[in-house]
Amino acid sequence: MNLRTVELDHTDHAALDLWWGAASRGFLSKPETDVAVRAERRGLLVGSSIIGVYDDTAAEPLVPVATLGSFPTALSIPDGTVRALAITEVTVSTSHERRGIARSLMENRLHHAQATGAAVVALTASEATIYGRYGFAPATWEFTHEVDPKRVAWRSAPPTGRVHTLDPRSLAIVAPELFERSRGAGDIDRGVAWWKQALREVTIRHFSHGEGDTLALRYDDADGEPQGYALYRVGEEWGTIVVDDLVATTPEARYALWRHLTGISLTTKVTFQQSPADEAMPWRLVDRRAVKTTARADSLWLRIVDVPTVLGARRFTVPGPSTPREHVLDVVDPLDLTGGRFVLRIDERGAAVVERLGDVPESGGDTDTDSVRLTINELSAVLLGGPRVSALAEAGLITGSPEAVRALDLAFATEQAPFLRTHF
Ligand SMILES: CC(C)(COP(=O)(O)OP(=O)(O)OC[C@H]1O[C@@H](n2cnc3c(N)ncnc32)[C@H](O)[C@@H]1OP(=O)(O)O)[C@@H](O)C(=O)NCCC(=O)NCCS
Repeated sequence: MNLRTVELDHTDHAALDLWWGAASRGFLSKPETDVAVRAERRGLLVGSSIIGVYDDTAAEPLVPVATLGSFPTALSIPDGTVRALAITEVTVSTSHERRGIARSLMENRLHHAQATGAAVVALTASEATIYGRYGFAPATWEFTHEVDPKRVAWRSAPPTGRVHTLDPRSLAIVAPELFERSRGAGDIDRGVAWWKQALREVTIRHFSHGEGDTLALRYDDADGEPQGYALYRVGEEWGTIVVDDLVATTPEARYALWRHLTGISLTTKVTFQQSPADEAMPWRLVDRRAVKTTARADSLWLRIVDVPTVLGARRFTVPGPSTPREHVLDVVDPLDLTGGRFVLRIDERGAAVVERLGDVPESGGDTDTDSVRLTINELSAVLLGGPRVSALAEAGLITGSPEAVRALDLAFATEQAPFLRTHF
């Protein structure tokens, strides 16, 4: 079998359409036949590296037997930002599975990320068993909440600002600004193509925004300043509402949008598709059981490819003067991209300096240093403050003396749960 890996030319529309067709087949969706929608779909690829693997001996040699897209982005981390490479549309045709094609594409992208200055690689995973072998781990979670509007009564007075209903397209300027102002750990950039489809400037539905007309709300505070917006649609079942995107720069804006969305006449159910792990809204209700959590899923998977840069860019928690602020980490990286023994020195304001001391000593080979040992997967998992270091230690995935593990646990803890608001 003669396989060729090709980075597609963005002007080769026929090849891009066949690439999309192969990717759709991999995810068990229908190939797109509408010419205009195909053009919109190509628009989603602007700024991405589009990689196809071709088998010249296959019955349809112009259709790739494997697909992968990647694009550079900025990842928000606790009080900082790092350069990241995002990976999407990883598929291998059923006729070519389990021969190492995905592995070779993934390893190629990890090296590409490193060579182009990204500190971390990001993706979302269709199955939890695929990407651990390349050093990835889940770092953020999202929750789906269903609200029964009949049971909604709020404990506090209505917000002092005003909610406007409007055409989603009229949010084109303000929504990206509000998104940027409200960025938190776990966020990646929202590109032009993302906004176009979210605000219904194109007909294509991608990025998990489902069928139905999109409606929009904007919340302006008492001074008339926009502080949040929501995009929602009527669900398939009459009377139900599905909220696809809710962005708020203040707790009051979030409350106002939730309050409005759960108070719309004739509705029988309001589904907030994506909420962070620390959603505060149920606490504002008289009857907290009006909100049912119907799904919990890992969302952003990370793989650090540059340990010193990524830890040096993050802010850490400084619990008190008696907790040590110097941590020795033995980071095991089976792909040998960024492993080693590192010392992480955190100053009194939580900023860190990271120095590589050398290779990871053999297990049990160095008993003098109170180091914490973990693989690149676990370091990637705890990077944003999602899972606790202590939980992974309890699971046997992070090892070290109880004192060293506890100090690291406190350092990595964050005030806010990390959250990926932008599916890709
Ligand atoms: C997942 C997928 C991309 C794997 O492609 P592939 O070329 O068969 O994978 P490889 O042959 O390179 O396998 C690499 C390793 O992953 C393992 N693996 C592959 N798919 C797996 C899966 N779904 N679950 C668990 N392990 C898997 C292989 O056993 C192999 O393990 P090893 O290296 O330890 O021996 C392919 O099955 C596919 O397209 N699935 C449907 C679309 C999809 O889910 N894509 C992932 C999007 S996030």
